[in-house]
Amino acid sequence: MSLLITGGTGYIGSHTVVELLALDKDIVIVDNLSNSSTLVLDRIKEITGKTVTFIKADICDEQAMDQVFSEHNIDAVIHFAGLKAVGESSEIPLSYYHNNVSGSVTLLQVMAKHQVKNLVFSSSATVYGENNESPLVETMPTSATNPYGQTKLMIENILFDLAKSDASWSIACLRYFNPIGAHESGLIGENPNGIPNNLLPYVSQVAVGRLPQLQVFGDDYDTVDGTGVRDYIHVVDLAIGHVKAVEKLTEISGCKPINLGTGNGTSVLEIVNSFREISGQEIPYSVQPRRAGDIATVFANAEVANKLLGWHAQRDLNAMITDTWRWQSNNPNGFE
Ligand code: NAD
Ligand code: UFG
Repeated sequence: MSLLITGGTGYIGSHTVVELLALDKDIVIVDNLSNSSTLVLDRIKEITGKTVTFIKADICDEQAMDQVFSEHNIDAVIHFAGLKAVGESSEIPLSYYHNNVSGSVTLLQVMAKHQVKNLVFSSSATVYGENNESPLVETMPTSATNPYGQTKLMIENILFDLAKSDASWSIACLRYFNPIGAHESGLIGENPNGIPNNLLPYVSQVAVGRLPQLQVFGDDYDTVDGTGVRDYIHVVDLAIGHVKAVEKLTEISGCKPINLGTGNGTSVLEIVNSFREISGQEIPYSVQPRRAGDIATVFANAEVANKLLGWHAQRDLNAMITDTWRWQSNNPNGFE
Protein backbone atom coordinates (compact mmCIF):
# COMPACT_ATOMS: atom_id res chain seq x y z
CA MET A 1 0.00 0.00 0.00
CA SER A 2 1.31 3.46 -0.92
CA LEU A 3 0.51 7.01 0.01
CA LEU A 4 0.09 9.50 -2.81
CA ILE A 5 1.53 12.91 -1.96
CA THR A 6 0.48 15.63 -4.42
CA GLY A 7 2.80 18.64 -4.27
CA GLY A 8 5.32 16.45 -2.42
CA THR A 9 8.42 18.27 -3.66
CA GLY A 10 7.14 21.58 -2.22
CA TYR A 11 7.96 23.14 1.15
CA ILE A 12 5.45 21.42 3.46
CA GLY A 13 5.16 18.30 1.27
CA SER A 14 8.90 17.54 1.35
CA HIS A 15 9.02 17.80 5.17
CA THR A 16 5.99 15.52 5.43
CA VAL A 17 7.58 12.96 3.09
CA VAL A 18 10.66 12.87 5.37
CA GLU A 19 8.48 12.12 8.43
CA LEU A 20 6.51 9.43 6.54
CA LEU A 21 9.70 7.75 5.28
CA ALA A 22 10.93 7.55 8.88
CA LEU A 23 7.90 5.29 9.46
CA ASP A 24 8.76 3.19 6.37
CA LYS A 25 5.73 4.27 4.38
CA ASP A 26 5.79 3.72 0.60
CA ILE A 27 5.51 7.10 -1.06
CA VAL A 28 4.44 8.18 -4.53
CA ILE A 29 4.90 11.91 -5.20
CA VAL A 30 3.03 13.69 -7.99
CA ASP A 31 4.19 17.25 -8.65
CA ASN A 32 4.24 19.39 -11.81
CA LEU A 33 7.35 21.25 -10.50
CA SER A 34 5.67 24.65 -11.05
CA ASN A 35 7.07 25.78 -7.68
CA SER A 36 9.70 23.17 -6.79
CA SER A 37 12.57 21.14 -8.19
CA THR A 38 13.64 17.50 -8.33
CA LEU A 39 16.79 18.52 -6.40
CA VAL A 40 14.54 18.16 -3.33
CA LEU A 41 14.38 14.40 -3.98
CA ASP A 42 18.18 14.08 -3.60
CA ARG A 43 18.01 15.96 -0.31
CA ILE A 44 15.18 13.74 0.96
CA LYS A 45 17.35 10.72 0.13
CA GLU A 46 20.32 12.27 1.93
CA ILE A 47 18.22 12.81 5.08
CA THR A 48 16.36 9.48 5.14
CA GLY A 49 18.54 7.08 3.10
CA LYS A 50 15.31 6.15 1.28
CA THR A 51 13.89 6.81 -2.16
CA VAL A 52 10.39 7.66 -3.26
CA THR A 53 8.58 7.17 -6.56
CA PHE A 54 8.38 10.55 -8.30
CA ILE A 55 5.96 11.27 -11.14
CA LYS A 56 6.04 14.62 -12.90
CA ALA A 57 2.36 15.25 -13.57
CA ASP A 58 -0.34 17.86 -13.13
CA ILE A 59 -3.32 17.12 -10.92
CA CYS A 60 -5.51 18.78 -13.58
CA ASP A 61 -4.47 16.06 -16.09
CA GLU A 62 -7.15 13.40 -15.58
CA GLN A 63 -5.47 10.82 -17.79
CA ALA A 64 -2.12 11.16 -16.04
CA MET A 65 -3.78 10.93 -12.61
CA ASP A 66 -5.78 7.90 -13.71
CA GLN A 67 -2.54 6.22 -14.75
CA VAL A 68 -0.98 6.96 -11.33
CA PHE A 69 -3.87 5.21 -9.57
CA SER A 70 -3.85 2.30 -12.06
CA GLU A 71 -0.13 1.66 -11.68
CA HIS A 72 0.19 2.13 -7.91
CA ASN A 73 -1.78 0.58 -5.08
CA ILE A 74 -2.75 3.87 -3.42
CA ASP A 75 -4.36 3.68 0.01
CA ALA A 76 -4.67 7.37 0.91
CA VAL A 77 -3.80 10.79 -0.52
CA ILE A 78 -2.22 13.84 1.12
CA HIS A 79 -3.12 16.70 -1.20
CA PHE A 80 -0.68 19.64 -0.99
CA ALA A 81 -0.57 20.60 -4.69
CA GLY A 82 -1.75 24.14 -5.26
CA LEU A 83 -0.79 27.72 -5.98
CA LYS A 84 -0.45 29.75 -2.79
CA ALA A 85 0.54 33.40 -3.38
CA VAL A 86 -2.25 35.65 -2.07
CA GLY A 87 -1.23 38.76 -4.11
CA GLU A 88 -0.73 36.82 -7.34
CA SER A 89 -4.15 35.19 -6.91
CA SER A 90 -5.81 38.60 -7.39
CA GLU A 91 -3.80 39.19 -10.58
CA ILE A 92 -4.45 35.80 -12.20
CA PRO A 93 -7.60 34.49 -10.45
CA LEU A 94 -8.56 32.07 -13.24
CA SER A 95 -5.23 30.26 -12.94
CA TYR A 96 -5.86 29.87 -9.20
CA TYR A 97 -9.43 28.60 -9.62
CA HIS A 98 -8.35 26.23 -12.40
CA ASN A 99 -5.24 24.88 -10.68
CA ASN A 100 -6.57 24.65 -7.13
CA VAL A 101 -10.31 24.03 -7.51
CA SER A 102 -10.56 22.21 -10.87
CA GLY A 103 -7.34 20.33 -10.07
CA SER A 104 -8.80 19.13 -6.74
CA VAL A 105 -12.09 18.09 -8.38
CA THR A 106 -10.16 16.09 -11.00
CA LEU A 107 -8.10 14.42 -8.27
CA LEU A 108 -11.27 13.58 -6.28
CA GLN A 109 -12.99 12.13 -9.36
CA VAL A 110 -10.03 9.88 -10.09
CA MET A 111 -9.82 8.85 -6.41
CA ALA A 112 -13.54 7.95 -6.41
CA LYS A 113 -13.15 5.94 -9.62
CA HIS A 114 -10.37 3.90 -7.99
CA GLN A 115 -12.26 3.57 -4.66
CA VAL A 116 -9.58 5.52 -2.75
CA LYS A 117 -11.59 7.58 -0.26
CA ASN A 118 -9.02 8.57 2.36
CA LEU A 119 -7.79 12.14 2.06
CA VAL A 120 -5.79 14.71 4.00
CA PHE A 121 -6.23 18.19 2.50
CA SER A 122 -4.04 21.32 2.93
CA SER A 123 -6.43 24.04 3.96
CA SER A 124 -5.51 27.30 5.63
CA ALA A 125 -6.44 29.59 8.49
CA THR A 126 -7.29 32.06 5.71
CA VAL A 127 -10.79 30.43 5.62
CA TYR A 128 -11.60 32.17 8.92
CA GLY A 129 -11.71 35.47 7.00
CA GLU A 130 -11.45 38.76 8.86
CA ASN A 131 -14.48 38.77 11.14
CA ASN A 132 -13.64 36.14 13.76
CA GLU A 133 -11.71 36.84 16.92
CA SER A 134 -8.72 34.68 17.89
CA PRO A 135 -8.33 32.05 19.23
CA LEU A 136 -9.96 30.65 16.09
CA VAL A 137 -12.14 27.57 16.54
CA GLU A 138 -13.18 25.14 13.78
CA THR A 139 -16.91 25.84 14.33
CA MET A 140 -16.58 29.56 13.52
CA PRO A 141 -18.12 30.88 10.27
CA THR A 142 -15.79 30.88 7.26
CA SER A 143 -15.24 33.45 4.52
CA ALA A 144 -12.52 34.60 2.13
CA THR A 145 -11.02 37.96 1.21
CA ASN A 146 -8.99 37.04 -1.91
CA PRO A 147 -9.10 34.45 -4.74
CA TYR A 148 -6.50 32.21 -3.04
CA GLY A 149 -8.63 32.08 0.11
CA GLN A 150 -11.74 31.49 -2.03
CA THR A 151 -10.10 28.43 -3.59
CA LYS A 152 -9.40 26.93 -0.14
CA LEU A 153 -12.95 27.67 0.98
CA MET A 154 -14.48 26.26 -2.22
CA ILE A 155 -12.43 23.07 -1.92
CA GLU A 156 -13.45 22.70 1.75
CA ASN A 157 -17.11 23.07 0.76
CA ILE A 158 -16.68 20.53 -2.04
CA LEU A 159 -15.15 18.11 0.48
CA PHE A 160 -18.01 18.63 2.99
CA ASP A 161 -20.59 17.98 0.22
CA LEU A 162 -18.69 14.92 -1.01
CA ALA A 163 -18.45 13.40 2.47
CA LYS A 164 -22.17 14.08 3.02
CA SER A 165 -23.08 12.35 -0.23
CA ASP A 166 -20.99 9.23 0.44
CA ALA A 167 -20.23 8.13 4.00
CA SER A 168 -17.29 5.99 2.91
CA TRP A 169 -15.04 9.07 2.55
CA SER A 170 -12.68 9.94 5.44
CA ILE A 171 -11.30 13.45 5.06
CA ALA A 172 -9.10 15.57 7.32
CA CYS A 173 -9.15 19.20 6.28
CA LEU A 174 -6.06 20.64 7.99
CA ARG A 175 -6.19 24.41 8.49
CA TYR A 176 -2.58 25.54 8.79
CA PHE A 177 -1.63 28.70 10.60
CA ASN A 178 1.80 30.20 9.63
CA PRO A 179 4.32 27.47 8.74
CA ILE A 180 7.97 28.50 9.15
CA GLY A 181 11.28 26.76 9.93
CA ALA A 182 13.06 23.96 8.14
CA HIS A 183 14.28 20.41 8.71
CA GLU A 184 16.99 20.43 11.39
CA SER A 185 19.50 18.92 8.93
CA GLY A 186 19.47 22.24 7.04
CA LEU A 187 19.01 20.22 3.81
CA ILE A 188 15.41 21.15 2.99
CA GLY A 189 13.46 24.34 3.64
CA GLU A 190 11.31 27.03 2.08
CA ASN A 191 12.56 28.21 -1.30
CA PRO A 192 10.26 30.95 -2.62
CA ASN A 193 10.45 32.08 -6.23
CA GLY A 194 11.38 35.77 -6.59
CA ILE A 195 10.85 38.24 -3.78
CA PRO A 196 9.13 36.52 -0.83
CA ASN A 197 5.65 37.64 0.26
CA ASN A 198 5.76 36.03 3.68
CA LEU A 199 7.54 37.41 6.72
CA LEU A 200 10.04 34.67 7.56
CA PRO A 201 11.57 34.07 4.13
CA TYR A 202 11.79 37.87 3.75
CA VAL A 203 13.56 38.34 7.10
CA SER A 204 15.97 35.48 6.41
CA GLN A 205 16.87 36.88 2.99
CA VAL A 206 17.58 40.26 4.63
CA ALA A 207 19.75 38.49 7.23
CA VAL A 208 21.72 36.64 4.54
CA GLY A 209 22.22 39.86 2.53
CA ARG A 210 20.02 39.02 -0.48
CA LEU A 211 17.55 41.83 0.32
CA PRO A 212 18.45 45.25 1.78
CA GLN A 213 15.71 45.74 4.39
CA LEU A 214 12.38 44.52 5.71
CA GLN A 215 9.21 46.56 5.40
CA VAL A 216 7.11 46.17 8.54
CA PHE A 217 3.49 46.51 7.43
CA GLY A 218 1.93 48.67 10.15
CA ASP A 219 2.87 49.41 13.77
CA ASP A 220 -0.48 50.82 14.86
CA TYR A 221 -2.44 47.60 15.44
CA ASP A 222 -3.95 46.88 18.83
CA THR A 223 -1.24 44.33 19.72
CA VAL A 224 1.67 44.02 22.14
CA ASP A 225 3.92 46.39 20.11
CA GLY A 226 1.56 47.58 17.36
CA THR A 227 2.73 45.05 14.73
CA GLY A 228 0.75 42.09 13.39
CA VAL A 229 0.51 38.94 15.52
CA ARG A 230 0.45 35.45 13.97
CA ASP A 231 0.59 31.82 15.10
CA TYR A 232 3.90 30.58 13.66
CA ILE A 233 4.26 26.79 13.56
CA HIS A 234 7.41 24.76 12.85
CA VAL A 235 7.07 22.97 9.51
CA VAL A 236 8.28 19.70 11.10
CA ASP A 237 5.47 19.90 13.69
CA LEU A 238 3.08 20.54 10.80
CA ALA A 239 4.52 17.52 8.95
CA ILE A 240 4.01 15.34 12.03
CA GLY A 241 0.40 16.59 12.17
CA HIS A 242 -0.09 15.10 8.67
CA VAL A 243 1.40 11.77 9.75
CA LYS A 244 -1.04 11.64 12.70
CA ALA A 245 -3.95 12.65 10.46
CA VAL A 246 -3.21 9.86 7.95
CA GLU A 247 -2.94 7.35 10.79
CA LYS A 248 -6.29 8.47 12.27
CA LEU A 249 -8.22 8.66 8.98
CA THR A 250 -9.92 5.32 9.63
CA GLU A 251 -11.44 6.85 12.79
CA ILE A 252 -12.72 9.92 10.93
CA SER A 253 -16.05 9.66 9.17
CA GLY A 254 -17.03 12.55 6.95
CA CYS A 255 -14.93 15.67 6.54
CA LYS A 256 -13.30 17.11 9.66
CA PRO A 257 -11.75 20.61 9.74
CA ILE A 258 -8.74 20.62 12.10
CA ASN A 259 -6.57 23.61 13.06
CA LEU A 260 -2.81 23.03 13.05
CA GLY A 261 -1.29 25.87 15.06
CA THR A 262 0.50 26.33 18.35
CA GLY A 263 -2.14 28.48 20.03
CA ASN A 264 0.45 31.24 20.62
CA GLY A 265 0.81 34.60 18.89
CA THR A 266 4.09 36.36 18.01
CA SER A 267 4.42 39.91 16.66
CA VAL A 268 6.49 40.98 13.63
CA LEU A 269 8.97 42.84 15.85
CA GLU A 270 9.30 39.87 18.19
CA ILE A 271 10.24 37.78 15.13
CA VAL A 272 12.75 40.40 13.96
CA ASN A 273 14.38 40.63 17.39
CA SER A 274 14.65 36.84 17.83
CA PHE A 275 16.05 36.47 14.33
CA ARG A 276 18.68 39.13 15.02
CA GLU A 277 19.74 37.42 18.26
CA ILE A 278 19.87 33.92 16.82
CA SER A 279 21.57 34.76 13.53
CA GLY A 280 23.88 37.47 14.88
CA GLN A 281 22.98 39.49 11.73
CA GLU A 282 21.50 42.98 11.51
CA ILE A 283 17.90 43.08 10.22
CA PRO A 284 17.34 46.64 9.03
CA TYR A 285 13.64 47.52 8.74
CA SER A 286 11.35 50.44 8.06
CA VAL A 287 7.75 50.81 9.18
CA GLN A 288 5.29 51.12 6.28
CA PRO A 289 1.51 51.51 6.11
CA ARG A 290 -0.63 48.48 6.85
CA ARG A 291 -0.83 45.86 4.05
CA ALA A 292 -4.33 45.65 2.52
CA GLY A 293 -6.28 42.66 3.80
CA ASP A 294 -4.12 42.09 6.92
CA ILE A 295 -5.70 41.81 10.34
CA ALA A 296 -4.13 42.51 13.73
CA THR A 297 -4.09 39.11 15.39
CA VAL A 298 -4.51 35.53 14.21
CA PHE A 299 -3.91 32.48 16.36
CA ALA A 300 -5.42 29.03 16.73
CA ASN A 301 -7.35 27.10 19.26
CA ALA A 302 -5.58 23.75 18.72
CA GLU A 303 -7.74 21.55 20.97
CA VAL A 304 -9.42 19.57 18.18
CA ALA A 305 -6.03 18.45 16.81
CA ASN A 306 -5.03 17.45 20.31
CA LYS A 307 -8.20 15.46 21.01
CA LEU A 308 -8.69 13.93 17.58
CA LEU A 309 -5.12 13.33 16.46
CA GLY A 310 -3.24 13.28 19.77
CA TRP A 311 -1.10 16.05 18.29
CA HIS A 312 0.31 19.25 19.62
CA ALA A 313 3.15 21.44 18.38
CA GLN A 314 6.40 20.74 20.23
CA ARG A 315 8.96 23.11 18.72
CA ASP A 316 9.23 26.64 20.11
CA LEU A 317 10.00 29.92 18.35
CA ASN A 318 13.70 29.54 19.11
CA ALA A 319 13.81 26.21 17.21
CA MET A 320 11.75 27.67 14.34
CA ILE A 321 14.16 30.56 13.83
CA THR A 322 17.33 28.54 14.46
CA ASP A 323 16.24 26.01 11.81
CA THR A 324 15.16 28.73 9.36
CA TRP A 325 18.55 30.39 9.71
CA ARG A 326 20.51 27.11 9.33
CA TRP A 327 18.63 26.36 6.09
CA GLN A 328 19.02 29.93 4.75
CA SER A 329 22.70 30.34 5.66
CA ASN A 330 23.67 26.87 4.33
CA ASN A 331 21.65 27.40 1.14
CA PRO A 332 21.72 31.15 0.38
CA ASN A 333 20.36 30.46 -3.12
CA GLY A 334 17.90 27.74 -2.19
CA PHE A 335 18.37 24.35 -3.87
CA GLU A 336 20.45 25.67 -6.78
P1 NAD B 1 4.76 24.91 -2.28
O1 NAD B 1 4.49 25.81 -3.44
O2 NAD B 1 6.13 24.84 -1.75
O3 NAD B 1 4.27 23.42 -2.64
C1 NAD B 1 3.18 23.18 -3.51
C2 NAD B 1 3.65 22.17 -4.54
O4 NAD B 1 2.57 21.86 -5.42
C3 NAD B 1 4.81 22.70 -5.41
O5 NAD B 1 5.86 21.75 -5.43
C4 NAD B 1 4.18 22.85 -6.81
O6 NAD B 1 5.11 22.60 -7.85
C5 NAD B 1 3.05 21.82 -6.76
N1 NAD B 1 1.91 22.09 -7.63
C6 NAD B 1 1.20 23.25 -7.75
N2 NAD B 1 0.20 23.09 -8.63
C7 NAD B 1 0.25 21.79 -9.07
C8 NAD B 1 -0.53 21.02 -9.97
N3 NAD B 1 -1.54 21.55 -10.65
N4 NAD B 1 -0.19 19.73 -10.17
C9 NAD B 1 0.86 19.18 -9.52
N5 NAD B 1 1.64 19.86 -8.66
C10 NAD B 1 1.32 21.15 -8.42
O7 NAD B 1 3.72 25.32 -1.12
P2 NAD B 1 3.65 24.83 0.39
O8 NAD B 1 3.98 26.01 1.26
O9 NAD B 1 4.36 23.57 0.58
O10 NAD B 1 2.08 24.62 0.51
C11 NAD B 1 1.48 23.35 0.34
C12 NAD B 1 -0.04 23.49 0.47
O11 NAD B 1 -0.34 24.07 1.74
C13 NAD B 1 -0.67 24.41 -0.57
O12 NAD B 1 -1.91 23.86 -0.97
C14 NAD B 1 -0.89 25.70 0.19
O13 NAD B 1 -1.95 26.44 -0.33
C15 NAD B 1 -1.19 25.19 1.58
N6 NAD B 1 -0.89 26.17 2.64
C16 NAD B 1 0.35 26.74 2.71
C17 NAD B 1 0.62 27.70 3.69
C18 NAD B 1 1.98 28.37 3.78
O14 NAD B 1 2.08 29.43 4.38
N7 NAD B 1 3.05 27.78 3.23
C19 NAD B 1 -0.39 28.09 4.60
C20 NAD B 1 -1.63 27.47 4.52
C21 NAD B 1 -1.88 26.51 3.52
N1 UFG C 1 4.72 41.20 7.24
C1 UFG C 1 5.54 42.32 7.25
N2 UFG C 1 6.44 42.45 6.24
C2 UFG C 1 6.57 41.55 5.23
C3 UFG C 1 5.74 40.40 5.24
C4 UFG C 1 4.82 40.27 6.26
O1 UFG C 1 5.44 43.17 8.14
O2 UFG C 1 7.40 41.74 4.32
C5 UFG C 1 3.76 41.01 8.37
C6 UFG C 1 2.30 40.95 7.92
O3 UFG C 1 1.77 42.23 7.86
C7 UFG C 1 1.69 40.05 9.01
C8 UFG C 1 2.84 39.11 9.39
O4 UFG C 1 4.04 39.75 8.95
O5 UFG C 1 1.39 40.82 10.15
C9 UFG C 1 2.74 37.74 8.71
O6 UFG C 1 2.59 37.92 7.30
P1 UFG C 1 2.75 36.71 6.27
O7 UFG C 1 2.59 37.28 4.90
O8 UFG C 1 3.98 35.94 6.55
O9 UFG C 1 1.55 35.73 6.65
P2 UFG C 1 -0.03 35.99 6.65
O10 UFG C 1 -0.50 35.69 8.04
O11 UFG C 1 -0.39 37.29 6.07
O12 UFG C 1 -0.52 34.89 5.60
C10 UFG C 1 -0.20 33.51 5.76
C11 UFG C 1 -0.12 32.80 4.42
C12 UFG C 1 -1.46 32.73 3.79
C13 UFG C 1 -2.46 32.13 4.72
C14 UFG C 1 -2.46 32.93 6.02
C15 UFG C 1 -3.43 32.35 7.02
O13 UFG C 1 0.76 33.48 3.54
O14 UFG C 1 -1.41 31.89 2.64
O15 UFG C 1 -1.15 32.91 6.57
O16 UFG C 1 -2.99 31.12 7.44
F1 UFG C 1 -3.67 32.17 4.16
